[in-house]
Amino acid sequence: MDLVFATNNQHKLKELQAILGEDFHLLSLKDIGCNEEIPEEQPTLEGNASQKSFYIFNKYGYDCFADDTGLEIEALNGEPGVFSARYAGKEKSAEANMKKVLERMAKINQRKARFRTVISLIIRGEEKRFEGIVSGEILKEKRGNSGFGYDPIFQPEGLNQSFAEMGLADKNKISHRGHAVEKLVNYLKEIE
Ligand code: IMP
Repeated sequence: MDLVFATNNQHKLKELQAILGEDFHLLSLKDIGCNEEIPEEQPTLEGNASQKSFYIFNKYGYDCFADDTGLEIEALNGEPGVFSARYAGKEKSAEANMKKVLERMAKINQRKARFRTVISLIIRGEEKRFEGIVSGEILKEKRGNSGFGYDPIFQPEGLNQSFAEMGLADKNKISHRGHAVEKLVNYLKEIE
């Protein structure tokens, strides 16, 4: 079955293709000739994931899925949330985003946060959503060099390492995206 993953991140695509096996043939946006920017204008992760998957389904007619992720910090009322990529501006700089979070959290002791991923799948004309969450805390300063985004300032609950101090395989086992993808894959295997 052909299935579009609304991404141009070849790394994400390859990783998922390996999990799904031969019954599903994953296509990227480039593979279907979609070179335009897909609108992401909704106020929630759910809204954005759905907007992206419906855009592809309506315009290109493929079964497809799209994801959206945000870092939600309790003491900041869920910020940066849906604005995670562009929290410090449209340049989408991870360094500037982390700096802004650390500054806002400087005098705050309650440091609970979570990453949340929402996947919207449209298959056989119907939408299904899957959610993955990892809870943890915002560190006082950056630690570690791997990963991306907010990884150096996020430490998952029960561990003494930031996401940026973990290997990718270990991170995927417990991460928001890992959990959401696991639910998606289980569902696809069930209906295949
Ligand atoms: P996206 O929806 O996957 O593009 O994620 C939106 C933004 O959330 C990214 O630009 C990052 O700033 C942040 N983000 C998403 N996933 C992660 C992660 O695993 N670690 C750190 N930051 C992340």
